[in-house]
Amino acid sequence: MNRGQKIARLTTNAVIRVPALWPLFRRLTRTQFDRLGPVWDASRSPDRTAAYEAALEGIDGDVRRALDVGTGTGDGALAIASRFPSAEIVGVDLADGMLAEARRKAPGIRFELADAARLPFADATFDLVAHSNMIPFFDEVTRVTAPRGWVLFAWSAGDETPIYVPTERLRRELGTRGFAHFAEFSAGRGTALVARKG
Ligand SMILES: C[S@@+](CC[C@H](N)C(=O)[O-])C[C@H]1O[C@@H](n2cnc3c(N)ncnc32)[C@H](O)[C@@H]1O
Repeated sequence: MNRGQKIARLTTNAVIRVPALWPLFRRLTRTQFDRLGPVWDASRSPDRTAAYEAALEGIDGDVRRALDVGTGTGDGALAIASRFPSAEIVGVDLADGMLAEARRKAPGIRFELADAARLPFADATFDLVAHSNMIPFFDEVTRVTAPRGWVLFAWSAGDETPIYVPTERLRRELGTRGFAHFAEFSAGRGTALVARKG
């Protein structure tokens, strides 16, 4: 891992253990990804969305409203649009530099500048709340997910992804917040987990 990736791993581990630490890392994270926006896609492997897409295929119900958290350049939001063409999709990110690329790639999708630690959406807004290579804020994810809604967490290079949360940890955090029906996926170099609320 390069220096930026090591910082991303350290940030993830710290914030997962103690979410209240996030404000300490917010500015650095934003600066890093603002800078990476224009070169992000070119630096990534062609199978980067394989596990995310496999997990979307595993969702066997209707999704009318979906959120891609930490959407970056919008690949996750685009994958949702392809799997659920009639869904209303929002992608949120902290970094304008990443969002500029997302808006260029997917002009039909709504992208908003927002912090996942404090999402600007009402309780139970989304049938699907998805993450690709993104630090989860479990309380906020739970709050904005509708009853019987799905959550999705994907890591494009499995446990070698700089921003990565082990499956057991995801299951524990989600289980204590009322999620069940866990399903695991792997595709390309990636892994993913889907769970359902209630
Ligand atoms: C590793 S990148 C992944 C981007 C994209 N999901 C993908 O897989 O290509 C992490 C993204 O999450 C964003 N991010 C990190 N922390 C965030 C937060 N608390 N709220 C919103 N976005 C955040 C970063 O700006 C960055 O665009």
